[in-house]
Amino acid sequence: MARSSICAFKLADKFFKVNVDKNLAFYLTSRHSSSWFADVPMGPPDAILGVTEAFKKDTNVNKINLGVGAYRDDQGKPYVLPSVKQADEIVLNKNLDKEYAPIIGAPDFGKLAAQLAYGEDCPQLKDNLISIVQGISGTGSLRVGAAFLKNFFPGEKVIYVPTPTWGNHIPICKHTGLEVKYYRYYDPTTCGFDFKGALEDINNIPSNSIILLHACAHNPTGVDPKPEQWKELAAVVKQKKLYPFFDMAYQGFASGNTTQDAFAVRYFLKEVGQLCLAQSFAKNMGLYGMLTEVKGMADRIISMRQSLKDNLQKEGSNKPWNHITDQIGMFCYTGLNATQVEKLIKEHSVYLTKDGRISMAGVTSKNVGYLAKAIHAVTK
Ligand SMILES: Cc1ncc(COP(=O)(O)O)c(C=O)c1O
Repeated sequence: MARSSICAFKLADKFFKVNVDKNLAFYLTSRHSSSWFADVPMGPPDAILGVTEAFKKDTNVNKINLGVGAYRDDQGKPYVLPSVKQADEIVLNKNLDKEYAPIIGAPDFGKLAAQLAYGEDCPQLKDNLISIVQGISGTGSLRVGAAFLKNFFPGEKVIYVPTPTWGNHIPICKHTGLEVKYYRYYDPTTCGFDFKGALEDINNIPSNSIILLHACAHNPTGVDPKPEQWKELAAVVKQKKLYPFFDMAYQGFASGNTTQDAFAVRYFLKEVGQLCLAQSFAKNMGLYGMLTEVKGMADRIISMRQSLKDNLQKEGSNKPWNHITDQIGMFCYTGLNATQVEKLIKEHSVYLTKDGRISMAGVTSKNVGYLAKAIHAVTK
């Protein structure tokens, strides 16, 4: 999928930001004092990329980066799926003319993406009742979805998001003009799903509002409702006339099975009737992944969860670490507090975000023992 990016460069002592797309170089702004945009405030640094920068500078040979949520193999290396390599070749051999795609994106791609989300037998899909637009990965799709709702949702222009949620949900929604409010989701005392709190809060959301839901493998907590809990949530959403906006960035990653991970989306479509969905293929299957390959990635992560828990117990930790194996998907919300996180980074060269989230994809059979020792040292 085409991606655009913004980068900054310096030319003759002026800073420029450039938006680079396929064939577009858009000179956005100059930081010269006479520029129209000289007073634009600098945005906050990216919390996750900051972790990687600090990791790179560390000279400890045992250092581990658990900040970025992108898949790594058991050697800790980025993994290009064999099917992606094959697809690259097919695309290359097609000798495409690189013509513009229609304004809503490549129709075949959209249809297949929707089939993966809703199932090939989905009646609404068969009856052509689902509108599909291709965005720039998950982030772009969330932006397009939020902007659409801000402009055309006939109810309240308020979106309720779980606490916590993926950090970018809040600025993306606010940026479109939607007001962002919250419902309880994560229970720090159990490191699990706060079902009672979520139900209570969702019950108190005014009718005709929008609710954002993570379809599976909730980021950052790795905590998902069970199917029976999804059913109760759907009943409340329906009864309160809320409009669900699903974000599905990890289909296949939670269980290793794309159908199982689509349960919530498909159930809501059937029971609630209408919804909006932003899909991403950036992490789960590198766009073209085949099921077996997604399962291979999910299985490695699941086995690392078990191994981390076993190693912590082997170290003699008597803390309850069940949440490591109960949580699912790419992330584990360890329950470590800010002081413990700081010690992990400073004293053990284990890099993670301040909220105690670790990307399980960064854990390998080689570093899991070191990681468990380090976690035990800062938590005992
Ligand atoms: C919950 C969630 N939604 C959306 C995205 C964005 O996906 P993409 O990288 O495809 O823009 C991410 C990426 O981290 C995510 O975790």
